[in-house]
Amino acid sequence: MQRLTNKVAIVTGAAQGIGAAFAKGLAAEGAKIVIADVGDGTNTANEIIRSNGAAIYVKTDVSSAEQVKAMVERAVAEFGAVDILVNNAAVFAKLGPKNFQEISSAEFDQVMAINVRGPFECAKAVAPIMAKQGGGKIVNIASSTVFKGVPNLLHYVSSKGAVVAMTRCLARELGDQKINVNAIAPGLTMSDGVLNQPGYTPEYIQQNMGGRALKRKQVPADLVGAMVFLCSSDSDFMTGQTMAVDGGNVMH
Ligand SMILES: NC(=O)c1ccc[n+]([C@@H]2O[C@H](COP(=O)([O-])OP(=O)(O)OC[C@H]3O[C@@H](n4cnc5c(N)ncnc54)[C@H](O)[C@@H]3O)[C@@H](O)[C@H]2O)c1
Repeated sequence: MQRLTNKVAIVTGAAQGIGAAFAKGLAAEGAKIVIADVGDGTNTANEIIRSNGAAIYVKTDVSSAEQVKAMVERAVAEFGAVDILVNNAAVFAKLGPKNFQEISSAEFDQVMAINVRGPFECAKAVAPIMAKQGGGKIVNIASSTVFKGVPNLLHYVSSKGAVVAMTRCLARELGDQKINVNAIAPGLTMSDGVLNQPGYTPEYIQQNMGGRALKRKQVPADLVGAMVFLCSSDSDFMTGQTMAVDGGNVMH
């Protein structure tokens, strides 16, 4: 039995990587998908359609309030509702490791604009629609780096710390509207972004895996079960939480 039949889900950053896996996983459970990505999300949309699902791609920079508003309006025009928002879009792998002294103010601001203000803009745009519909689910993508304080990626780790905090604030503010807000904190995952970044050497990946209770590479599919759970009625009494899905690296 499908668990998300006829639900409408916006998945940001679903052109590739973990976001594409989320979009396909939610579609397999019956959700109609809006792929909101600054990159080309046509392939993800076509894959879903070929599997008899429903999907549209709307080119969107999540750091632009105007583009986010237009994307949400398009979602409603196309599918008539917004039940689920997955705030997955972020800059990550391409940042590369840097001592914090080497991070420019401009790069720091860019990471915050996409990784923190992006989810804020998206939540702001969908919450009134979800409230009017009688409820909804927002799932933010954080990172297990927050709980480890991983060095040489200060702007990124700080941005994901803010996502954990934002998840808690939104959960408190939106509880009365029956909107659940939770987060998933993935471990190092073999997404397109990571696979295309030579900085993630086999040695680095091996060392990261060594810290896990389950010592193998994490792939995007490892995150889909938790996502479907948080988007479905199975998690209706859970909000403000951050689930680490990282093979038992961080435990909190
Ligand atoms: N891969 C990992 O190891 C890992 C670990 C922990 C958390 N995460 C988080 O998981 C999420 C997905 O990561 P990934 O590794 O699949 O990344 P990825 O780089 O493979 O894909 C990211 C997607 O986001 C899109 N995007 C970037 N900026 C955008 C913007 N301004 N507006 C709209 N879309 C934008 C990109 O075009 C791309 O399609 C991110 O939030 C990331 O921080 C990843």
